[in-house]
Amino acid sequence: MEGGVRGGAIPYICTLYKSTAVEYVFMSNIIQQLQETTRYIKNIYPYSPRIGIVLGSGLGNFARELAIEKEIPYSEIPHFPVSTVEGHPGKLLFGEISGKKVVAMAGRFHFYEGYDAGQVAYPIRIMKFLGIEFLLISNAAGGVNPDFRVGDLMIITDHISFATVNPLVGKNVSELGPRFPDMSHPYRKDLIQKAKAIANTMNFPLKEGVYFGVTGPTFETRAEYKMIRKLGGDAVGMSTVQEVIIAVHMELAVFAMSVITDIGIREEENTITHQEVLQAAIDAEPRLSAIFKKLIEEL
Ligand code: HPA
Repeated sequence: MEGGVRGGAIPYICTLYKSTAVEYVFMSNIIQQLQETTRYIKNIYPYSPRIGIVLGSGLGNFARELAIEKEIPYSEIPHFPVSTVEGHPGKLLFGEISGKKVVAMAGRFHFYEGYDAGQVAYPIRIMKFLGIEFLLISNAAGGVNPDFRVGDLMIITDHISFATVNPLVGKNVSELGPRFPDMSHPYRKDLIQKAKAIANTMNFPLKEGVYFGVTGPTFETRAEYKMIRKLGGDAVGMSTVQEVIIAVHMELAVFAMSVITDIGIREEENTITHQEVLQAAIDAEPRLSAIFKKLIEEL
């Protein structure tokens, strides 16, 4: 889908899908925006990365694994929202890891910042338009599985979207993906197997589990952490779910990993601060980066 729908094709597509005038405006807007953004980026960095990476809170140091060829601040990219959260520098990084072209988001967009679900997921669509086939996502998350400890790495095997707005609500743009995407395997099993084997050879213990997506920005109450556990979550966080939905819609192969930065279900005094979350992510980042780097090598 490089470059998305070719220029001049939109009226043709509208005829094809029997769109109304209103739908035409919506569809031409999103496709046109995606094309404009893609064109802008391609003018600066003409290559097609095969792998897209989203670096979560405190995980930006992964960038040192990257032979950076170009950096583009989000603020300079047409139609990109601008990230405002501490710990999120906010730029697209282009370069190579083990000879593979990658694009990495240093900083992501969160619903709690005030962006709508479509804006949160916009960069994922752009990465697809730039040519990626694989999407590697990282995040900081609170542990609710009693076996988890701060600093653990958890492979996300599945997720639960809890009151997070689905970014596909609204008229479906068939050019991007189907109306009713299958979500039985959002996280690719073969990538999970590869990551487990890699962590094993590195002697890094790994957890696996279900990521429970919430909007934030409050951390959870004690009662909420307990509820999340009862509802089937192993970790809870404020990102990822909307990005993964958009990625699955466009048939990207997704792999995602959480750093457990706090434990929500401890009985003792248990306040959680953003600072503590960032620090725990920074401490765990070298292990996460090593696994991501090796995984990229094998893709
Ligand atoms: N809850 C929600 N989001 C988070 C947490 C948490 O405990 N830790 C890091 N992100």
